[in-house]
Amino acid sequence: MASSLEFPHKLSFFLLLPFFLLLLLLLCFFPPNDQINPFSSILSKNLFPFHSSKQPQPPLSPPQSTLQFPPTTATATAPSQPQDYSSTRKKKSEMIEEGLAEARAAIRLAIVTRNYTSEKEESFIPRGRVYRNAYAFHQSHIEMKKRLKIWTYKEGEQPLVHDGPMKHIYSIEGHFIDEMDSGKSPFSAHEPEEAQVFFLPISIVYIVDYIYKPITTYARDRLVRIFTDYVRVVANKYPYWNRTRGADHFMVSCHDWAPEVTKEDPNLFKYFIRVLCNANTSEGFNPMRDASLPEINLPPTFHLNLPRLGQPPQNRSILAFFAGGAHGFIRHILMQHWKDKDHEIQVHEYLPPSQNYTELIDRSKFCLCPSGYEVASPRLVEAIHGGCVPVVISDYYSLPFDDVLDWSKFSMRIPSERIPEIKTILRGVSMKKYLKLQRGVMKVQRHFEIHRPAKAFDMFHMVLHSVWLRRLNVKLTH
Ligand SMILES: *[C@@H]1O[C@H](CO)[C@@H](O)[C@H](O)[C@H]1NC(C)=O
Ligand SMILES: *[C@@H]1O[C@H](CO)[C@@H](O)[C@H](O)[C@H]1NC(C)=O
Ligand SMILES: *[C@@H]1O[C@H](CO)[C@@H](O)[C@H](O)[C@H]1NC(C)=O
Ligand SMILES: *[C@@H]1O[C@H](CO)[C@@H](O)[C@H](O)[C@H]1NC(C)=O
Ligand SMILES: *[C@@H]1O[C@H](CO)[C@@H](O)[C@H](O)[C@H]1NC(C)=O
Repeated sequence: MASSLEFPHKLSFFLLLPFFLLLLLLLCFFPPNDQINPFSSILSKNLFPFHSSKQPQPPLSPPQSTLQFPPTTATATAPSQPQDYSSTRKKKSEMIEEGLAEARAAIRLAIVTRNYTSEKEESFIPRGRVYRNAYAFHQSHIEMKKRLKIWTYKEGEQPLVHDGPMKHIYSIEGHFIDEMDSGKSPFSAHEPEEAQVFFLPISIVYIVDYIYKPITTYARDRLVRIFTDYVRVVANKYPYWNRTRGADHFMVSCHDWAPEVTKEDPNLFKYFIRVLCNANTSEGFNPMRDASLPEINLPPTFHLNLPRLGQPPQNRSILAFFAGGAHGFIRHILMQHWKDKDHEIQVHEYLPPSQNYTELIDRSKFCLCPSGYEVASPRLVEAIHGGCVPVVISDYYSLPFDDVLDWSKFSMRIPSERIPEIKTILRGVSMKKYLKLQRGVMKVQRHFEIHRPAKAFDMFHMVLHSVWLRRLNVKLTH
């Protein structure tokens, strides 16, 4: 088995162990079907992405498992490769691949040495239990800052493209598009040839807002058609999509309907990276290829929320808190069992005006984050910002930044069928365990901060890092 992975021959067993750790890290741990051990299936299917030798790779057979790994040899077999591919262009893409290979090697080294290498002074060094592998993540973030260039397509016009919602529940979509489109991001490529990754700045929220206004139908076909047309234009006009069949292209959307835009043409979108708030693994979200996007609810004043200390743990007198609409079946169950029934488990459908939402979060030990109409909830970020331990009440939700952060170290997870037991479960958490979880929340706060322009290790960087990790697993061949 080891020979099929093409390890350089000098690698000793000592080196292999951390190497596998990285494999685990990069491939995320949770395939759609939790029963499958991603480890064994990847190894046995020979889908390991990091080829350290320069030999041509054996062509991958079509994905045989549910893991749907991106095509590392797509272009080798793609007959549609444009003939006018100039040699200078070829050189540039070879340089890009060499850079990515260096990045992978640096990450492997960081895992083995448990330290980092950087040309610059590091302002923050991630360490501790909240990371799956802090050394791998740190080095990967360093490599990303050094190398990642993203080409944002100029194709299309406002308001459906190059624009998006900047406030309320879907605001992360507009802010992300704006951040990439402004041209001010250090990750922006000046020309497509220098990019490792391609961004489609199209807003699902704005398509729905403009095309479905006033809403007379919930049929998704017009939305799907507009999105698919946009991608077809891009794939026809430029050589980049076809090179990898979209495996180095991504979109970002927070709309509930966003996962559906790729349904009509599964072949076109097979390898496309979708960064989605609605990361429901039961509805086709594939954590091996897609990335989960945190939902944030920005007030109309446009003011970007920042984390707070909240009350110190001993002053958090409320065991658990939730306030919000009874959207979706999980919240229905929650309301049935807990609405205005218990002073320790404070569940409100809407908060009385005399009460202050932020202050209640700051005074609670645990904050309930149930799924609404879809799996994501802005409460996850709100809880983390207030130093309140999130209690994720959802089924099939793939959590944001899960390939880097170990959510079990700073949150609780309660499946919907155990909602009646919330009080028993939370009272059963010892003070010692609670303090550990709460410290974990404080440690990850920086990864859920929002800045414009983005800052190192903040939420936008984490989103980009999710894309970067997926790109590291793709190899273009020429
Ligand atoms: C880790 O690497 C940094 C920078 O490369 C260096 O300054 C530091 O001394 C190293 N730490 C250890 C424990 O080797
Ligand atoms: C990409 O592939 C599609 C479908 O095979 C084809 O119609 C299109 O012309 C190709 N694009 C380029 C730039 O060659
Ligand atoms: C925590 O509670 C104590 C006692 O009620 C109070 O004196 C202290 O100011 C509180 N701490 C904060 C940060 O509010
Ligand atoms: C709620 O409390 C926070 C922090 O104490 C304060 O900044 C905010 O203005 C309050 N909000 C309302 C609506 O009173
Ligand atoms: C996730 O997807 C499943 C399957 O379609 C669906 O039954 C469930 O309601 C979804 N979850 C949420 C919270 O929407």
